[in-house]
Amino acid sequence: MRSIIDILDLSTEELDELIATALDIIGHPRKYSHICDGLKLATLFFEPSTRTRMSFEAAMYELGGHVISMASAASSSAAKGESVADTVKVISCYADIIAIRHPKEGAALVAANNASIPVINGGDGGHCHPTQTLADLLTIYREKGRLDGLTIGVCGDLKFGRTVHSLINAMSRYEGTRFVLISPEELRVPDYVINEALVRKGVPYSETTDLDKAMPELDILYMTRIQRERFFNEEEYLRLKDSYILTADRMKNAGDDMIVMHPLPRVNEISVAVDDDPRACYFKQVLNGKYMRMALMLKLLAEAGKLESTGLNGSRTVTL
Ligand code: NCD
Repeated sequence: MRSIIDILDLSTEELDELIATALDIIGHPRKYSHICDGLKLATLFFEPSTRTRMSFEAAMYELGGHVISMASAASSSAAKGESVADTVKVISCYADIIAIRHPKEGAALVAANNASIPVINGGDGGHCHPTQTLADLLTIYREKGRLDGLTIGVCGDLKFGRTVHSLINAMSRYEGTRFVLISPEELRVPDYVINEALVRKGVPYSETTDLDKAMPELDILYMTRIQRERFFNEEEYLRLKDSYILTADRMKNAGDDMIVMHPLPRVNEISVAVDDDPRACYFKQVLNGKYMRMALMLKLLAEAGKLESTGLNGSRTVTL
């Protein structure tokens, strides 16, 4: 049974295929509005979420399917001590596909190893968040018209930010990508990500603490929240929380076609005045995330043989 735990579980051809499907959904929503009739998505969220859970749910409704949901650990048998493995064995009896978020790194993999239906990782601790990256890729494609030859500045909490790890893993596979990693010393990208995604593949990157200096050379500035819930001590969080605040004034250092992205939620790392700047794309990412989750669920359900009547077999090759 195919599950998606890491963005690297999808080949670059499959990323192109998902983008093509999402664009087709955007262009022809009615074509897809009954494709999942009678199918059920289970959302299992052991950590807070607004966008990821609700976009998965909206996505399944827009495909004609149904949703059963566990919106918090406290409201489920996890509170009584049930393991993730047992929970997903149970959910496999009720649903056709699972989206899971969990505070522990590796929990989504445990779920996938124990479920008899496809599992999609909606974020496992500080590890990875593949479907946010799908939203990011569609946004970059729609805004920049390409996924190659881009200089991407990633700024904020690059240590605990799982969206950052998945984005680096995805974009490092495209020709001509260059990264500028902007963070306080304490919140640098973990070595395992740097080594596997960048050094091993020879992808050019630089590390800096200086956002203003980096801005003029960027095609994309990807801002992130300092991940308070993953800090071991509150003092350290308080010291680092306002390391970078993107203001309208600072945006003057950026090129006219640099886009600003953020997985959201934002706390105060982007001032609301930037929202009116045409280069701000973070709310577009939200909408794109729904379309990419529709495309991903369609692909996994097709591969699991649940969409046979629709003619989708999950193995199309699409050229963008
Ligand atoms: C992100 C996450 O949960 O990792 N949110 C999201 O899914 N869009 C980013 C964050 O919480 O900072």
